[in-house]
Amino acid sequence: MKHKENIIEDFPLLSKNNIVYLDTAATSQKPKYVIDEVKKYYNKSNANPHRGVYSISESATKEYAQARHIVAEFIGAQYDEEIIFTKNATEALNLVAYSYGLDNVSKNNKIVLTVMEHHSNLVPWQKVAKNKCSILEYMYINNKYEIPNQELDKIDSSTKIVAVTMVSNVLGTMPNIKQIIKKAHSVGAVVIIDGTQAAGHMSINVQNIDADFFVFSGHKMYAPLGIGVLYGKKNLLEKMKPFVMGGDMIEYVYEQDTTFAPLPNKFEAGTQNVAGAVGLAAAIKYIQSIGINNIQDKEHKLYSFALAELKKLPYIELYCPSNGTGVISFNIKGIHPHDVASFLANDNICVRSGNHCAQPLLRYLKLDSTCRISFGIYNTIEDIKKLIQSIKLIYEKFKKFIG
Ligand code: ALA
Repeated sequence: MKHKENIIEDFPLLSKNNIVYLDTAATSQKPKYVIDEVKKYYNKSNANPHRGVYSISESATKEYAQARHIVAEFIGAQYDEEIIFTKNATEALNLVAYSYGLDNVSKNNKIVLTVMEHHSNLVPWQKVAKNKCSILEYMYINNKYEIPNQELDKIDSSTKIVAVTMVSNVLGTMPNIKQIIKKAHSVGAVVIIDGTQAAGHMSINVQNIDADFFVFSGHKMYAPLGIGVLYGKKNLLEKMKPFVMGGDMIEYVYEQDTTFAPLPNKFEAGTQNVAGAVGLAAAIKYIQSIGINNIQDKEHKLYSFALAELKKLPYIELYCPSNGTGVISFNIKGIHPHDVASFLANDNICVRSGNHCAQPLLRYLKLDSTCRISFGIYNTIEDIKKLIQSIKLIYEKFKKFIG
Protein backbone atom coordinates (compact mmCIF):
# COMPACT_ATOMS: atom_id res chain seq x y z
CA MET A 1 0.00 0.00 0.00
CA LYS A 2 1.17 3.50 -0.77
CA HIS A 3 -0.08 6.61 0.99
CA LYS A 4 -0.83 9.84 -0.90
CA GLU A 5 1.75 12.62 -0.75
CA ASN A 6 -0.94 14.89 0.67
CA ILE A 7 -2.15 12.64 3.51
CA ILE A 8 -5.57 14.25 3.81
CA GLU A 9 -6.43 12.94 0.33
CA ASP A 10 -6.34 9.42 1.82
CA PHE A 11 -9.21 10.33 4.16
CA PRO A 12 -12.52 10.66 2.26
CA LEU A 13 -14.48 12.23 5.11
CA LEU A 14 -11.90 14.97 5.59
CA SER A 15 -11.02 15.62 1.96
CA LYS A 16 -14.68 15.80 0.85
CA ASN A 17 -15.79 18.09 3.67
CA ASN A 18 -14.22 21.28 4.79
CA ILE A 19 -13.51 20.03 8.33
CA VAL A 20 -10.64 20.74 10.68
CA TYR A 21 -10.58 17.54 12.70
CA LEU A 22 -8.78 17.95 16.02
CA ASP A 23 -10.40 15.08 17.93
CA THR A 24 -8.35 12.01 17.05
CA ALA A 25 -7.99 11.20 20.77
CA ALA A 26 -11.74 10.50 20.76
CA THR A 27 -11.69 8.61 17.49
CA SER A 28 -9.62 8.87 14.32
CA GLN A 29 -10.86 9.32 10.79
CA LYS A 30 -10.40 6.30 8.50
CA PRO A 31 -8.23 6.13 5.38
CA LYS A 32 -9.80 4.90 2.15
CA TYR A 33 -7.35 1.98 2.23
CA VAL A 34 -8.82 0.72 5.53
CA ILE A 35 -12.40 1.25 4.35
CA ASP A 36 -11.61 -0.62 1.11
CA GLU A 37 -9.93 -3.54 2.90
CA VAL A 38 -12.98 -3.97 5.15
CA LYS A 39 -15.25 -3.78 2.10
CA LYS A 40 -13.07 -6.32 0.28
CA TYR A 41 -13.31 -8.68 3.25
CA TYR A 42 -17.12 -8.51 3.19
CA ASN A 43 -17.25 -8.83 -0.59
CA LYS A 44 -14.81 -11.71 -0.90
CA SER A 45 -14.15 -13.61 2.34
CA ASN A 46 -16.98 -13.12 4.78
CA ALA A 47 -17.93 -16.25 6.75
CA ASN A 48 -17.72 -17.45 10.33
CA PRO A 49 -14.05 -18.15 11.10
CA HIS A 50 -12.96 -21.42 12.75
CA ARG A 51 -16.31 -23.07 11.93
CA GLY A 52 -16.65 -23.89 8.22
CA VAL A 53 -14.60 -26.25 6.04
CA TYR A 54 -15.57 -24.34 2.89
CA SER A 55 -13.23 -21.86 1.27
CA ILE A 56 -14.70 -18.53 2.39
CA SER A 57 -14.71 -19.69 6.03
CA GLU A 58 -11.10 -20.76 5.57
CA SER A 59 -10.31 -17.31 4.10
CA ALA A 60 -11.99 -15.60 7.06
CA THR A 61 -9.99 -17.79 9.47
CA LYS A 62 -6.77 -17.02 7.61
CA GLU A 63 -7.37 -13.27 7.47
CA TYR A 64 -8.21 -13.20 11.18
CA ALA A 65 -4.98 -15.07 12.03
CA GLN A 66 -2.95 -12.81 9.74
CA ALA A 67 -4.39 -9.75 11.45
CA ARG A 68 -3.31 -11.15 14.82
CA HIS A 69 0.20 -11.68 13.48
CA ILE A 70 0.38 -8.11 12.11
CA VAL A 71 -0.76 -6.72 15.48
CA ALA A 72 1.78 -8.89 17.35
CA GLU A 73 4.61 -7.57 15.17
CA PHE A 74 3.33 -3.99 15.43
CA ILE A 75 3.70 -3.95 19.23
CA GLY A 76 6.67 -6.31 19.46
CA ALA A 77 4.89 -9.25 21.10
CA GLN A 78 6.83 -12.52 21.18
CA TYR A 79 3.89 -14.78 20.27
CA ASP A 80 0.77 -14.21 18.18
CA GLU A 81 -1.37 -15.88 20.86
CA GLU A 82 -0.42 -13.10 23.27
CA ILE A 83 -2.78 -10.89 21.22
CA ILE A 84 -6.42 -11.11 22.28
CA PHE A 85 -8.93 -9.25 20.14
CA THR A 86 -11.54 -7.35 22.12
CA LYS A 87 -14.23 -4.81 21.35
CA ASN A 88 -12.04 -1.92 22.52
CA ALA A 89 -9.49 -0.96 25.19
CA THR A 90 -12.25 -0.74 27.80
CA GLU A 91 -13.20 -4.38 27.29
CA ALA A 92 -9.51 -5.36 27.36
CA LEU A 93 -9.04 -3.58 30.70
CA ASN A 94 -12.16 -5.22 32.11
CA LEU A 95 -10.83 -8.59 30.97
CA VAL A 96 -7.62 -8.06 32.95
CA ALA A 97 -9.47 -6.72 36.00
CA TYR A 98 -11.89 -9.66 36.11
CA SER A 99 -9.66 -12.51 34.97
CA TYR A 100 -6.38 -11.43 36.57
CA GLY A 101 -7.31 -8.88 39.24
CA LEU A 102 -10.04 -10.80 41.05
CA ASP A 103 -7.83 -13.88 41.35
CA ASN A 104 -4.55 -12.21 42.28
CA VAL A 105 -5.45 -9.46 44.72
CA SER A 106 -6.31 -10.15 48.36
CA LYS A 107 -7.39 -8.18 51.40
CA ASN A 108 -5.13 -5.18 52.09
CA ASN A 109 -3.13 -5.68 48.89
CA LYS A 110 -2.68 -2.51 46.88
CA ILE A 111 -3.69 -1.62 43.34
CA VAL A 112 -1.77 1.49 42.29
CA LEU A 113 -3.04 3.81 39.52
CA THR A 114 -2.26 7.34 38.45
CA VAL A 115 -4.85 10.05 39.02
CA MET A 116 -4.77 10.63 35.25
CA GLU A 117 -6.39 7.32 34.35
CA HIS A 118 -9.31 7.25 31.96
CA HIS A 119 -12.44 5.83 33.68
CA SER A 120 -11.81 2.61 31.73
CA ASN A 121 -8.57 2.04 33.62
CA LEU A 122 -10.04 3.10 36.94
CA VAL A 123 -13.64 1.93 37.42
CA PRO A 124 -12.78 -1.79 36.81
CA TRP A 125 -10.05 -1.52 39.49
CA GLN A 126 -12.53 0.03 41.93
CA LYS A 127 -14.65 -3.08 41.41
CA VAL A 128 -11.68 -5.38 42.12
CA ALA A 129 -10.66 -3.33 45.17
CA LYS A 130 -14.19 -3.40 46.60
CA ASN A 131 -14.66 -7.13 45.95
CA LYS A 132 -11.33 -8.09 47.46
CA CYS A 133 -11.18 -5.47 50.27
CA SER A 134 -7.93 -4.24 48.77
CA ILE A 135 -6.62 -0.69 48.61
CA LEU A 136 -6.80 1.56 45.57
CA GLU A 137 -3.97 4.06 45.78
CA TYR A 138 -3.19 6.91 43.38
CA MET A 139 0.05 8.41 42.18
CA TYR A 140 -0.66 12.15 41.88
CA ILE A 141 0.68 14.72 39.45
CA ASN A 142 2.50 17.88 40.56
CA ASN A 143 1.83 21.43 39.39
CA LYS A 144 3.80 20.67 36.21
CA TYR A 145 1.27 17.94 35.34
CA GLU A 146 3.92 15.25 35.85
CA ILE A 147 4.20 12.30 38.22
CA PRO A 148 7.11 13.12 40.55
CA ASN A 149 9.50 10.28 41.31
CA GLN A 150 8.53 10.08 44.98
CA GLU A 151 5.00 9.05 43.97
CA LEU A 152 6.51 5.76 42.80
CA ASP A 153 7.21 4.95 46.47
CA LYS A 154 3.50 4.08 46.68
CA ILE A 155 4.40 0.94 44.74
CA ASP A 156 5.52 -1.22 47.64
CA SER A 157 5.61 -4.85 48.75
CA SER A 158 1.82 -4.92 49.29
CA THR A 159 1.22 -3.85 45.66
CA LYS A 160 -0.07 -6.55 43.32
CA ILE A 161 -1.19 -4.44 40.37
CA VAL A 162 -0.05 -1.17 38.83
CA ALA A 163 -2.29 0.22 36.06
CA VAL A 164 -0.95 3.25 34.22
CA THR A 165 -1.68 5.20 31.09
CA MET A 166 1.13 5.59 28.57
CA VAL A 167 -0.22 9.00 27.50
CA SER A 168 -2.89 10.91 29.45
CA ASN A 169 -5.93 11.55 27.25
CA VAL A 170 -6.45 14.89 29.02
CA LEU A 171 -2.98 16.26 29.68
CA GLY A 172 -0.76 14.49 27.18
CA THR A 173 1.52 13.57 30.09
CA MET A 174 3.70 10.52 29.54
CA PRO A 175 4.49 8.90 32.88
CA ASN A 176 7.90 7.27 33.08
CA ILE A 177 6.59 3.85 32.06
CA LYS A 178 9.95 2.09 32.14
CA GLN A 179 10.71 3.27 35.65
CA ILE A 180 7.21 2.40 36.89
CA ILE A 181 7.42 -1.08 35.39
CA LYS A 182 10.87 -1.64 36.90
CA LYS A 183 9.67 -0.54 40.32
CA ALA A 184 6.51 -2.69 40.10
CA HIS A 185 8.47 -5.76 39.04
CA SER A 186 10.96 -5.25 41.88
CA VAL A 187 8.08 -5.75 44.34
CA GLY A 188 6.44 -8.57 42.36
CA ALA A 189 3.51 -6.53 40.98
CA VAL A 190 2.22 -6.82 37.42
CA VAL A 191 1.75 -3.75 35.24
CA ILE A 192 -1.09 -2.93 32.88
CA ILE A 193 -0.30 -0.18 30.39
CA ASP A 194 -3.20 1.68 28.79
CA GLY A 195 -1.69 2.46 25.41
CA THR A 196 -4.88 3.86 23.90
CA GLN A 197 -3.48 7.35 23.24
CA ALA A 198 -0.05 6.03 22.26
CA ALA A 199 -0.83 3.40 19.61
CA GLY A 200 -0.52 4.85 16.12
CA HIS A 201 1.38 7.89 17.41
CA MET A 202 4.67 6.39 18.59
CA SER A 203 6.66 3.21 18.36
CA ILE A 204 5.60 0.55 20.86
CA ASN A 205 7.52 -2.53 21.91
CA VAL A 206 5.89 -4.40 24.76
CA GLN A 207 8.94 -6.60 25.26
CA ASN A 208 11.33 -3.63 25.48
CA ILE A 209 9.24 -1.92 28.13
CA ASP A 210 8.50 -5.30 29.75
CA ALA A 211 4.75 -4.59 30.08
CA ASP A 212 2.76 -7.49 31.52
CA PHE A 213 -0.43 -6.31 29.85
CA PHE A 214 -0.90 -3.62 27.20
CA VAL A 215 -4.21 -2.47 25.76
CA PHE A 216 -5.37 -0.21 22.95
CA SER A 217 -8.36 0.51 20.71
CA GLY A 218 -8.24 0.26 16.94
CA HIS A 219 -10.59 3.15 16.26
CA LYS A 220 -8.17 5.76 17.59
CA MET A 221 -5.47 4.59 15.19
CA TYR A 222 -7.31 4.69 11.86
CA ALA A 223 -9.01 1.28 12.18
CA PRO A 224 -12.78 0.68 12.35
CA LEU A 225 -14.79 1.04 15.55
CA GLY A 226 -15.38 -2.13 17.57
CA ILE A 227 -11.94 -3.72 17.53
CA GLY A 228 -9.45 -3.50 20.38
CA VAL A 229 -6.43 -5.38 21.61
CA LEU A 230 -5.25 -6.92 24.82
CA TYR A 231 -1.63 -7.99 24.86
CA GLY A 232 -0.64 -10.17 27.80
CA LYS A 233 2.49 -12.14 28.56
CA LYS A 234 1.78 -15.74 27.60
CA ASN A 235 2.60 -17.17 31.03
CA LEU A 236 0.09 -14.78 32.65
CA LEU A 237 -2.69 -15.27 30.10
CA GLU A 238 -2.31 -19.03 30.32
CA LYS A 239 -2.97 -19.01 34.06
CA MET A 240 -6.00 -16.72 33.83
CA LYS A 241 -9.61 -17.88 33.76
CA PRO A 242 -11.78 -16.91 30.78
CA PHE A 243 -13.70 -13.65 31.00
CA VAL A 244 -16.68 -14.32 28.71
CA MET A 245 -18.12 -17.84 28.27
CA GLY A 246 -19.60 -19.27 25.09
CA GLY A 247 -18.72 -20.70 21.71
CA ASP A 248 -15.18 -20.97 20.35
CA MET A 249 -13.49 -20.52 23.76
CA ILE A 250 -14.11 -24.11 24.79
CA GLU A 251 -12.26 -27.40 24.34
CA TYR A 252 -14.83 -29.93 25.61
CA VAL A 253 -18.25 -29.18 27.02
CA TYR A 254 -20.05 -31.70 29.23
CA GLU A 255 -23.45 -31.30 30.82
CA GLN A 256 -21.97 -30.03 34.06
CA ASP A 257 -18.48 -28.86 33.17
CA THR A 258 -16.25 -27.41 30.46
CA THR A 259 -12.57 -27.36 29.59
CA PHE A 260 -11.26 -24.33 27.78
CA ALA A 261 -9.46 -23.76 24.49
CA PRO A 262 -5.81 -22.70 24.50
CA LEU A 263 -4.76 -19.09 23.84
CA PRO A 264 -5.97 -16.94 22.23
CA ASN A 265 -9.42 -18.55 21.80
CA LYS A 266 -9.92 -18.92 25.56
CA PHE A 267 -10.53 -15.17 25.70
CA GLU A 268 -12.45 -14.77 22.46
CA ALA A 269 -15.93 -16.19 23.09
CA GLY A 270 -18.53 -15.99 20.33
CA THR A 271 -18.19 -14.96 16.72
CA GLN A 272 -15.49 -12.37 16.54
CA ASN A 273 -15.21 -9.07 14.65
CA VAL A 274 -13.13 -10.42 11.76
CA ALA A 275 -13.79 -7.37 9.58
CA GLY A 276 -12.59 -5.18 12.46
CA ALA A 277 -9.40 -7.21 12.80
CA VAL A 278 -8.85 -7.00 9.02
CA GLY A 279 -9.41 -3.24 9.26
CA LEU A 280 -6.95 -2.96 12.14
CA ALA A 281 -4.31 -4.86 10.15
CA ALA A 282 -4.94 -2.49 7.22
CA ALA A 283 -4.59 0.53 9.53
CA ILE A 284 -1.24 -0.83 10.72
CA LYS A 285 -0.09 -1.26 7.12
CA TYR A 286 -1.21 2.28 6.40
CA ILE A 287 0.71 3.62 9.43
CA GLN A 288 3.77 1.63 8.42
CA SER A 289 3.63 3.01 4.88
CA ILE A 290 4.14 6.49 6.36
CA GLY A 291 6.48 5.29 9.10
CA ILE A 292 5.72 5.58 12.80
CA ASN A 293 8.76 7.81 13.40
CA ASN A 294 7.64 10.20 10.65
CA ILE A 295 4.18 10.29 12.22
CA GLN A 296 5.65 11.02 15.64
CA ASP A 297 7.85 13.80 14.23
CA LYS A 298 4.98 15.40 12.35
CA GLU A 299 2.63 15.27 15.32
CA HIS A 300 5.33 16.65 17.58
CA LYS A 301 5.72 19.66 15.26
CA LEU A 302 1.96 20.23 15.27
CA TYR A 303 1.86 19.93 19.05
CA SER A 304 4.73 22.41 19.53
CA PHE A 305 3.27 24.89 17.06
CA ALA A 306 -0.20 24.72 18.64
CA LEU A 307 1.22 25.10 22.14
CA ALA A 308 3.34 28.09 21.14
CA GLU A 309 0.38 29.79 19.44
CA LEU A 310 -1.98 29.15 22.37
CA LYS A 311 0.62 30.51 24.79
CA LYS A 312 0.59 33.82 22.88
CA LEU A 313 -3.05 34.36 23.89
CA PRO A 314 -3.18 35.84 27.42
CA TYR A 315 -6.75 34.64 28.02
CA ILE A 316 -5.90 30.96 27.50
CA GLU A 317 -5.28 28.60 30.43
CA LEU A 318 -3.24 25.57 29.47
CA TYR A 319 -3.13 22.22 31.26
CA CYS A 320 -0.13 20.37 29.91
CA PRO A 321 3.36 19.32 30.93
CA SER A 322 6.50 20.67 29.26
CA ASN A 323 7.07 17.44 27.32
CA GLY A 324 3.52 16.33 26.60
CA THR A 325 2.26 14.69 23.46
CA GLY A 326 -0.84 14.13 21.35
CA VAL A 327 -3.39 16.27 23.18
CA ILE A 328 -3.59 19.80 24.53
CA SER A 329 -6.24 20.76 27.08
CA PHE A 330 -7.08 24.42 27.54
CA ASN A 331 -9.78 26.87 28.54
CA ILE A 332 -10.56 30.41 27.54
CA LYS A 333 -10.78 32.21 30.88
CA GLY A 334 -14.39 33.05 31.69
CA ILE A 335 -15.97 31.10 28.82
CA HIS A 336 -17.42 27.64 29.34
CA PRO A 337 -15.55 24.99 27.31
CA HIS A 338 -18.82 23.67 25.84
CA ASP A 339 -19.51 27.17 24.48
CA VAL A 340 -15.98 27.33 23.06
CA ALA A 341 -16.37 23.90 21.43
CA SER A 342 -19.78 24.87 20.00
CA PHE A 343 -18.44 28.08 18.50
CA LEU A 344 -15.47 26.18 17.06
CA ALA A 345 -17.96 23.67 15.61
CA ASN A 346 -19.70 26.57 13.84
CA ASP A 347 -16.37 27.13 12.08
CA ASN A 348 -16.17 23.41 11.19
CA ILE A 349 -13.46 22.82 13.79
CA CYS A 350 -13.98 19.59 15.76
CA VAL A 351 -12.59 19.52 19.31
CA ARG A 352 -13.76 17.75 22.44
CA SER A 353 -14.98 19.55 25.55
CA GLY A 354 -15.94 18.00 28.88
CA ASN A 355 -14.26 15.88 31.51
CA HIS A 356 -12.81 13.48 28.93
CA CYS A 357 -13.84 10.39 30.97
CA ALA A 358 -11.36 11.39 33.67
CA GLN A 359 -13.46 12.90 36.46
CA PRO A 360 -11.01 12.13 39.31
CA LEU A 361 -8.28 14.00 37.42
CA LEU A 362 -10.48 17.01 36.69
CA ARG A 363 -11.62 17.08 40.34
CA TYR A 364 -7.97 16.91 41.45
CA LEU A 365 -7.20 19.87 39.18
CA LYS A 366 -10.28 21.70 40.53
CA LEU A 367 -11.74 21.89 37.04
CA ASP A 368 -15.15 20.87 35.69
CA SER A 369 -14.15 20.55 32.09
CA THR A 370 -11.70 21.64 29.44
CA CYS A 371 -11.47 21.99 25.69
CA ARG A 372 -9.12 19.48 24.18
CA ILE A 373 -7.44 19.37 20.81
CA SER A 374 -5.71 16.21 19.64
CA PHE A 375 -3.71 15.37 16.57
CA GLY A 376 -3.66 12.78 13.83
CA ILE A 377 -1.60 12.17 10.72
CA TYR A 378 -3.97 14.24 8.57
CA ASN A 379 -3.56 17.46 10.58
CA THR A 380 -1.61 20.41 9.26
CA ILE A 381 -0.17 23.68 10.52
CA GLU A 382 -3.01 25.32 8.57
CA ASP A 383 -5.52 23.50 10.84
CA ILE A 384 -3.87 25.03 13.89
CA LYS A 385 -3.89 28.49 12.33
CA LYS A 386 -7.65 28.15 11.68
CA LEU A 387 -8.16 27.04 15.28
CA ILE A 388 -6.24 30.03 16.65
CA GLN A 389 -8.10 32.43 14.38
CA SER A 390 -11.42 31.01 15.53
CA ILE A 391 -10.42 31.17 19.23
CA LYS A 392 -9.51 34.84 18.78
CA LEU A 393 -12.94 35.59 17.27
CA ILE A 394 -14.73 33.69 20.07
CA TYR A 395 -12.85 35.74 22.65
CA GLU A 396 -13.72 38.98 20.87
CA LYS A 397 -17.41 37.98 20.87
CA PHE A 398 -17.46 37.00 24.54
CA LYS A 399 -15.07 39.42 26.13
CA LYS A 400 -17.67 42.02 27.08
CA PHE A 401 -19.43 39.35 29.18
CA ILE A 402 -16.28 38.19 30.99
CA GLY A 403 -15.95 39.71 34.45
N1 ALA B 1 -11.44 8.09 25.45
C1 ALA B 1 -11.83 8.99 24.43
C2 ALA B 1 -11.34 10.39 24.67
O1 ALA B 1 -10.51 10.64 25.48
C3 ALA B 1 -13.27 8.90 24.14
O2 ALA B 1 -11.81 11.29 24.03
